[in-house]
Amino acid sequence: IRVAVVSGGRSGEHQVSRRSAASVLANLDPARYQPEEVLITRTGQWVFGTDAPVSVFAAIERLRAVDVVFPTLHGPYGEDGTLQAVLELTGVPYVGNGVLASAAGMDKEFTKKLLAADGIPVADAVLSRPTDPDGVPPEAELRRLGLPVFVKPARAGSSLGVTRVADWAELPAALEWARSSDPKVLVEAAVPGREIDMAVLEHPDGRLEVGPPLEIRVTDDRSFFDYDAKYDDPETVFEIPARLDDTVTAELSDLAVRAFRALGCAGLARVDFFLRDGVAPVLNEVNTFPGFTPVSQYPRIWQVAGLAYPELLDVLVRNALA
Ligand code: DAL
Ligand code: MG
Repeated sequence: IRVAVVSGGRSGEHQVSRRSAASVLANLDPARYQPEEVLITRTGQWVFGTDAPVSVFAAIERLRAVDVVFPTLHGPYGEDGTLQAVLELTGVPYVGNGVLASAAGMDKEFTKKLLAADGIPVADAVLSRPTDPDGVPPEAELRRLGLPVFVKPARAGSSLGVTRVADWAELPAALEWARSSDPKVLVEAAVPGREIDMAVLEHPDGRLEVGPPLEIRVTDDRSFFDYDAKYDDPETVFEIPARLDDTVTAELSDLAVRAFRALGCAGLARVDFFLRDGVAPVLNEVNTFPGFTPVSQYPRIWQVAGLAYPELLDVLVRNALA
């Protein structure tokens, strides 16, 4: 089975994607799969193996030669439904989420709207659009959120462009920083509490499995789980399973599955929560193509669940071909 592992891409998570793809390539079972490495450059050229770069138009033609695409891409132009739409048009099967779920999961404005419509608790937020006067949302709305807030690009990942703001004087700079990733920015009420990630995996027979909860703990000098804490800090702790009451684990599992369905997900998703004693969990975000680097949460969760990395990939590819 010829698997095109596509990575890189035009988003700020280009390098994370390459690290994810290196792990995928190293863990695809060689007895079953013949991987082909496909790199999308930062400017959107496609490189098949060691061949010369080609345009997306020529790339589409070349994808006809593979059996399945593994879109190991994070962020816009990869995880947001655009690539998935091209693959739908070509008819080549691909791993993971389709067009709508990918688009909805990438855009935090619409993720929140869809989840809220299904009664899933999300953090309160206001949007900053380029058309707002001075680019700052109305003061009354900001006051409703209180401090601190997180200022986030609406469509980005790996905490790129994200700032924690504890003083309104810092807001304009934070908005400007977020806007360097996306003209649409979210100002979100901070949710104090523990950070718990849940992994959802769809089996080829359609059964959804939720992995053991993972708790993230960052070092004291950090105010949140930022880019560096995600990929370059050996002191970041991932505890699997997180120490939670069974009832809380069941509640998070249920919410993760509900979120998966609310967005119309397929294949996989990592659903991230904030958890505080005595309060309903708050869903932070849904990642439709979560990190697959050796240090990333999704493959680690399945490892602990007894599904080794190559077996996890096998489930994902078989599901794509089912
Ligand atoms: N966006 C990164 C890759 C993650 O969710 O793990
Ligand atoms: Mg994310």
